Amino acid sequence: MSALLQTTGLSRHFGGLKAVQDVSLSVMPRTIHAILGPNGAGKTTLFNLITGAIPPASGCVSFDGSDVTGWTPERLAGRGIVRTFQRTSVFLELTLCENVALAIRSSRGLNFSIRCSRADAAEIAAEAHQHLRSVGLADKAALTAKQLAHGSQRALDVAIGLALKPRLILMDEPLAGMSKGDRHGIGELILKLRDEMGLTIVLVEHDVGMVMALSDAITVMQNGMVIADGLPAVIRESAAVKSAYLHGSFAS
Ligand SMILES: Nc1ncnc2c1ncn2[C@@H]1O[C@H](COP(=O)(O)OP(=O)(O)O)[C@@H](O)[C@H]1O
Ligand SMILES: [Mg+2]
Repeated sequence: MSALLQTTGLSRHFGGLKAVQDVSLSVMPRTIHAILGPNGAGKTTLFNLITGAIPPASGCVSFDGSDVTGWTPERLAGRGIVRTFQRTSVFLELTLCENVALAIRSSRGLNFSIRCSRADAAEIAAEAHQHLRSVGLADKAALTAKQLAHGSQRALDVAIGLALKPRLILMDEPLAGMSKGDRHGIGELILKLRDEMGLTIVLVEHDVGMVMALSDAITVMQNGMVIADGLPAVIRESAAVKSAYLHGSFAS
C-alpha cells in the first residue's frame, strides 16, 4: 500500500534556527500516526508546513500521489487535508448546529451574507446534524458553543473539521488541558474517525500512554529531525528514543 501523505526532505528554518530539518514522513491511509517529541522539537512547524500555513525552504509534500507543496490551506482543505483544534473556528454565541452549518457553507464557497434557499438551508442543517451525531453531540445541537464543557468543545472542533469532508485530519495536542475522562472520550472519537469513517489521523500528543494505546505508527522528533520512526512497540523499546527524549518514561 502506498502512503496517503508523504513528506520528503522537508526543511524550514527561522533565521539560524533549523526548526524542521530534512523530515521524511510516510503516513499510511486509515492509520493513526503520532508525532512525539519534546517542546521545541519542530512538531507544530511540521504541521504548519504540511497544512500550507507556511512554505518549506526545501523538500516536498505529496498527498494521495499528487505534489501539493506550497498549496494554500484552503486548496489543501479542498483536497481533504484538514487541521482541527483551532478554536478560532468556533463561534461561542452560535448553536452547535449553526457552527457546523457555517463551516459547511464556507466549504461550498457560500459566505455569511449570501442567502440560500429554504431547501438548501434544510439540507445543510441535516448535514450539520449528521456531523454532530458522528462526534456524539447530536443531543446538544441546539445549545450555544459557550454552554459546552471543555471536552465537548473539542468534539465540536472535530465536527467543524468533518464539515470540510476531510480524508486526513491533523490534530495538534488534542488532549492538552483535558481531564482524564475527557481525554478518554476524545481518544474514543479518534478511533471512531479511523474505524467507522475511514479517515487518516496525524496527531501530536504528549500523553505517551494515550499515544501508545491509539497509534498505528509513531515518528519521534528532536531538534527538528526525525530520530525514530516505527510501530509503537518498536518506539517503546528504542534506545535512541529513551535516551534522547523520554529518559526511560516508556519503561513502566
Ligand atoms: N514563527 C516562528 N518564528 C521563529 N521561530 C519559530 C517560529 N515557529 C517556531 N519557531 C521555533 O522553532 C522551533 C520548533 O518549534 P515548534 O515547531 O513550535 O515545536 P514543537 O511544536 O515541537 O514544540 C522552536 O525553537 C520554536 O521557538
Ligand atoms: Mg507544538
